[in-house]
Amino acid sequence: MPKKTVTITDNNTGKSIEVDILQGSQGPPVIDIGTVYKELGMFTFDPGFVNTAACESAITFIDGEKGVLQYRGYPIEQLAEHSNFLEVCYLLYYGDLPTRKQQKEFDSIITRHSIIHEGLHDFYSGFRRDAHPMAITCGVMGALSSFYHDSLDIWDERSREITAHRLIAKLPTIAAGAYRYSKGEPFAYPKNSLDYASNFLHMMNSFPSEEYQVNEIAAKALDLLFLLHADHEQNASTSTVRLAGSSQANPYACISAGVGTLWGPAHGGANEAVIKMLKEIGDPSRTKEFVNRAKDPSSNFRLMGFGHRVYKNYDPRAKIIRKMSKKVLDELKVDDPLFEIAMKLEEIALKDEYFIEKKLYPNVDFYSGIILRAIGIPTTMFTVIFTIGRTIGWVSQWQEMVTDKSHRIGRPRQVYIGKRKRKYIPVAKRTKN
Ligand code: CMC
Repeated sequence: MPKKTVTITDNNTGKSIEVDILQGSQGPPVIDIGTVYKELGMFTFDPGFVNTAACESAITFIDGEKGVLQYRGYPIEQLAEHSNFLEVCYLLYYGDLPTRKQQKEFDSIITRHSIIHEGLHDFYSGFRRDAHPMAITCGVMGALSSFYHDSLDIWDERSREITAHRLIAKLPTIAAGAYRYSKGEPFAYPKNSLDYASNFLHMMNSFPSEEYQVNEIAAKALDLLFLLHADHEQNASTSTVRLAGSSQANPYACISAGVGTLWGPAHGGANEAVIKMLKEIGDPSRTKEFVNRAKDPSSNFRLMGFGHRVYKNYDPRAKIIRKMSKKVLDELKVDDPLFEIAMKLEEIALKDEYFIEKKLYPNVDFYSGIILRAIGIPTTMFTVIFTIGRTIGWVSQWQEMVTDKSHRIGRPRQVYIGKRKRKYIPVAKRTKN
């Protein structure tokens, strides 16, 4: 195919340059601006990276206009129906679905890596009991690098693989520990007879003094939530992991940076914020009032769980989660008034001119909290659950970046708007600043 190009002309000097248009396997064409500064002496400006592709990636594809999400080419709807979280972890990291034998080996490795070093337990006691579990998860995750000197060589394929296994396996143990610490309860060791999601529920809820029976409906719902959160291409936390990784920092440090980024309410922290908002609304009759508040330009209030940088259509994950919320509530015979409020809010917002015009739809965080509440997960753990699911995405994207020969340290430029060069004045001579 002939190379496609676009011409960029500086209207001030009349100088024109031809730059390449890149075409991925799916998605819009991308202008390669790599030579613009060299040729025209100008940077490009794109706050929030709204128009900028920062890397090549073969992991996740999103078509935001159509509401499409694929992991390694597989539509999220098919994976949600037929796959499970650990199979998706394998798919994201290694690139293809595993054979039965590969899956068995992988599941066994993840199960057997789930215990954390006893010394790591001491880190928890440094936190206040009322610390947010995300603060603890972020801190303990960062501390992991000090325990695994044996596998910190980022250029070694096997070290990267061991790190990926450790991260996927240990995150539920670390996260459940954060919760048990905040409650002053004993930590539960992982149980190798349980699957990934069941094991997490066991570590969250069991006591050494009693038998704990994992609820199968809860474990299945949780596994699906992990799967739906597993990757989402170059979102804020993943880009943070890549940026940190571009400096060749160790993977635990990079992923800990990702955890911190995910915590924000504009990102993964939205699932917790949605429940707070629904509680504040309190009754379906008040939803209109909150929709009006979200439209008011003088207010900072936004409908949490609504809107997305990429989706200008219904988030496909939210569609699945909405359907699953109903099923889980029915199966567990839970009557959650917040679900009714959420559905009413969605109904009103989707008919509202403001939301239609700005293409604001429910996102992944809008209904996930309804399920998490129904299966007994406390609100402060919602973003931690997102973290457990997303870790495979972060580690797969980090591994892809490290092995990409064209990767360089991430180093954006700026439009400097500060003072021009000026002369230093000794303090004795300063009359004003
Ligand atoms: N409620 C009311 N108005 C909104 C909302 C909302 N939830 N989201 C966007 N808008 C408006 C916004 O005020 C702006 O209006 P205007 O053009 O008049 O200034 C316009 O829509 C575009 O918004 P933006 O902030 O420029 O869009 P963005 O792509 O920078 O931000 C977002 C995306 C997700 C941060 C934003 O939609 C938001 O704050 N949503 C609520 C928080 C949320 O649910 N976050 C979870 C995101 S999905 C999961 C994840 O990433 O973890």
